[in-house]
Amino acid sequence: MKRLLTLCIVLCALCSASAQGVDHARMNQFVDNLMARMTLQEKIGQLNLPVTGDIITGTAVSGNVVDQIKAGQVGGLFNMKGVKSIRQLQEVAVKHSRLGIPLIFGMDVIHGYETVFPIPFAMSMSWDMEAIRNSARIASVEATADGICWTFSPMVDICREPRWGRMSEGNGEDPYLGAAICRAMIEGYQGNDLTDRTTMMSCVKHFALYGAPEAGRDYNTVDMSRVRMFNEYFPPYQAGVEAGAGSFMTSFNTIDYIPATGNRWLMTEVLRDRWGFDGFVVTDYTAISEMINHGMGDLQTVSALALNAGTDMDMVAEGFLGTLEKSLSEGKVTIQAIDQACRRILEAKYKLGLFDDPYRYLDDKRASKEIFTAEHRAAARRLATETFVLLQNKDNVLPLKREGKIALVGPLANTRANMPGTWSVAATSDRYSTLLEAMRRATSGKAEVLYAKGCNVCYDAELEKNSTMFGREMRDNRDPKAMRDEAVSIAQQCDVIVAAMGEPSEMSGESSSRSQLTILDAQRDLLEALKATGKPIVLLNFSGRATVMNWEVENIPTILNVWFGGSEAADAICDVVFGDVSPSGRLTVTMPRNEGQIPIYYNHLNTGRPNPKWFTKFTTNYLDVPNDPLFPFGYGLSYTTFNYGTLTLSGNTLSRNTLDADNHLTASVTVTNTGSCEASEVVQLYIRDMVGSIARPVKELKGFERITLKPGESRKVTFDITPDLLKFYNADLVYDCEPGEFQLMVGPNSRDLQTQSFTLK
Ligand code: BGC
Repeated sequence: MKRLLTLCIVLCALCSASAQGVDHARMNQFVDNLMARMTLQEKIGQLNLPVTGDIITGTAVSGNVVDQIKAGQVGGLFNMKGVKSIRQLQEVAVKHSRLGIPLIFGMDVIHGYETVFPIPFAMSMSWDMEAIRNSARIASVEATADGICWTFSPMVDICREPRWGRMSEGNGEDPYLGAAICRAMIEGYQGNDLTDRTTMMSCVKHFALYGAPEAGRDYNTVDMSRVRMFNEYFPPYQAGVEAGAGSFMTSFNTIDYIPATGNRWLMTEVLRDRWGFDGFVVTDYTAISEMINHGMGDLQTVSALALNAGTDMDMVAEGFLGTLEKSLSEGKVTIQAIDQACRRILEAKYKLGLFDDPYRYLDDKRASKEIFTAEHRAAARRLATETFVLLQNKDNVLPLKREGKIALVGPLANTRANMPGTWSVAATSDRYSTLLEAMRRATSGKAEVLYAKGCNVCYDAELEKNSTMFGREMRDNRDPKAMRDEAVSIAQQCDVIVAAMGEPSEMSGESSSRSQLTILDAQRDLLEALKATGKPIVLLNFSGRATVMNWEVENIPTILNVWFGGSEAADAICDVVFGDVSPSGRLTVTMPRNEGQIPIYYNHLNTGRPNPKWFTKFTTNYLDVPNDPLFPFGYGLSYTTFNYGTLTLSGNTLSRNTLDADNHLTASVTVTNTGSCEASEVVQLYIRDMVGSIARPVKELKGFERITLKPGESRKVTFDITPDLLKFYNADLVYDCEPGEFQLMVGPNSRDLQTQSFTLK
């Protein structure tokens, strides 16, 4: 033990702590020396990641962790909160295991820590990369102040499947935007120096394609062509590698009939050989042992399969710990494969500076000063206001004036625990405001806010119980009619009704798939009763996915989708409802008219019989619903109006609308705020490749700029079109562009676009 400590001290003098990144030669030397001293069992121990915290997402839990740490059988732990408890276990590792190798402490820090930002799906609606980067930076400052140095984020699974509850954790349906957000998040978490005590290692998840489960059921089979994987689902993961993510997490699903965790093509050929990833791969929760249910063999077989595929760390399953030694003796895995995985985990610890100082993230003075600060909360509130999407605002019911009487009703109006949204592991909800509290604060002395819950989430108590787990229960046992009557009676006394409805926060997230995406029965009945009062109604729709809202769009004049806005959601909603901030969120998902349209997404291929309208015999359509969505990707209103000038193109050397392979073209449009309040607009660029060696989508997002304009102000927005933007993976999975004609489209959403053509020589 003493000898190792001496070795560590000498070698740690060599440790790189420079802002310039890691000195690989020194790191290799350090890890070589350490590994030379490790037994096989200790190497395998590094590959083991048990769970110790309160948050348990599977059926398995780990026991006996302290003894395992002492025996050198644990590489890291996750979802433990607080410096004190983390320090205790780090001390066990450093002082009581033979080699004193520090543990890595991870957590699902998904959208903030105690200062909770909007759920990732909502954050994507802001299209504000700077604010998203800053949210990750703040999450990192708070989490590291509390002892965490590794986060299981960003989640970058492209999702066109709103039945799947985990749409809430990703960035919507678009690969270009998803890649940009992935980069921003990693930059925010990792900064440019992982040894900095305020940065943490990111983990890109869930690799891969987890967002495309059949029928929208969580963990289900994924089957898609490789061309689609590479062009439409892989870009955010690849962006994660390019941004230097320290780790990746496997997904639960099968790909080409092989579970991702045991899929060598995916984990080695694509991730490492093609993209050059040099960090470590951790499984998702018990993903190794779940391969038994997938029919891949017993625990020993599936553990060997995972290691041989290129998976390095086993989360909770204890398949590596329990079977790799035997597999080695039977020739089913090699010592090189075990060494490789162990090395990658030790390198991660080295990069985090843990060998230099295992207590680096365990400063007990930081938490009280750096967590849930006024500055962090202000950033979360600001970003939340940018995520709300105004879907319609007939008669300009919004913004509300701070006067008269306002009826606030609905099951989401007075709940604290549901405000932060799913996967807010570190949240301290008792410190967050309910919407009712925030609204009374925002109108204090000016308007009166009357409140009635009006209904439960739904009539079915069992469904409500399953949608409000983890301390978020909210069932009211009064008679449904009495509750509704109470709401109607306060509505009748008021000038306007604000209905806070939708999904409670655990109705989306993991294991929260839905087959019907409409507003639930009890809430719809309440809305109908409220409508009968004849008062203007504002519907605030809380949700973690795209919902189906035909009835609401026809019957309720104003709809603001507020998703789940985080710890500051309530105040942020008031900022927008009372017009201090104009809504500027833009949909990053296509909103379907009904569940039968799913999957529906803007960047689809044409058929041979395309039909943009409703029914024409022998064309691509339904008998009973139009092809187009209720609201298109990119859509969102504000309290002002924007005018788009004429879209103009200018090539560099050739004609106005031609570019060649080492050239570029610019597209510009002048946008003017023609209304009466300051507001932000997201100017969007789409491109269509008219002829290709494979069928190409009808349009693809290739640029965007979020601008803020004062009333009357104009801004020229310019996009640089380079051949790089025109590249795609062809049938041989070669990434290149093909000469020919392209359409370039610019506008406020994926539907309302101006089009120009250009040619690539
Ligand atoms: C989830 C992951 C998460 C992990 C650890 C799993 O159930 O799929 O996203 O990071 O649990 O909590």
